[in-house]
Amino acid sequence: MSKNKVTAPGLSEMKARREKITALTAYTYPMARMLDEAGVDIALVGDSLGRVILGYDSELKVTMEDMIRHTGAVSRGVSRALVVADMPFLSCQVSEEEAVKNAGRLVQEANAEAVKIEGVACLSAIKRIVDIGVPVMGHVGLTPQSVHQLGGLKVQGRDDYNARRIRDEAFALQDAGVFAIVLEAIPANLASEITESLKIPTIGIGAGPDCDGQVLVTHDMLNLYDRLRPSFVKQYADIRQITIDAFKAYCNDVKEGRYPEKK
Ligand code: KIV
Repeated sequence: MSKNKVTAPGLSEMKARREKITALTAYTYPMARMLDEAGVDIALVGDSLGRVILGYDSELKVTMEDMIRHTGAVSRGVSRALVVADMPFLSCQVSEEEAVKNAGRLVQEANAEAVKIEGVACLSAIKRIVDIGVPVMGHVGLTPQSVHQLGGLKVQGRDDYNARRIRDEAFALQDAGVFAIVLEAIPANLASEITESLKIPTIGIGAGPDCDGQVLVTHDMLNLYDRLRPSFVKQYADIRQITIDAFKAYCNDVKEGRYPEKK
């Protein structure tokens, strides 16, 4: 792991030298500090924030104010990783002007170094955001902000028509100037083919091993979120159980007079 600051153009250099890119989501200052200390390349302030931090049942309720507050906290905790903030639902779909303004707010008010935008509905806004100098990350496949249109959070691109559509969207995003694309919940062979054909790096989540990088929702891999864990997630630690055990030990100590001690 290089100690150098990770930048949007630096990720293309990593792809060129076939160095895998690591990304995890972060929403708070302490998590961002730990992620940075561990050498993770990208701190993604995902709108998964709505589920795993705010307890909503979808990403659709997350607002610009939520994203600005949490992106600011993550930026303050990170010195090496690239801070990428999700543009929440309705922050870029209404008009190009609003999209540019909202991307600018994430940079100006919360120190985001790039924004991520789902799908291709905002292609012209993406071009304008890139034109004003803000790097944009794309996101295709399973795009949670379209959960109702997709009929649920499920694997995308299994049939030829949808595989072609996802491939075309990835190319359209590359042409619009995005610096990287998240491929979420698509078959591994499709992700592999897209990764081989694009110049820019792909970051996979539930998209097999051949993407240029991988991202996970941190609360899934640490078992900090109790409601939904996609089958592809590897659980690296059980922080939920460690925390519950610590809380129980504290309660027992207080109830039985062992804490605080007299001295
Ligand atoms: O919101 C999020 O956490 C994301 C990742 C799953 C890529 O978009």
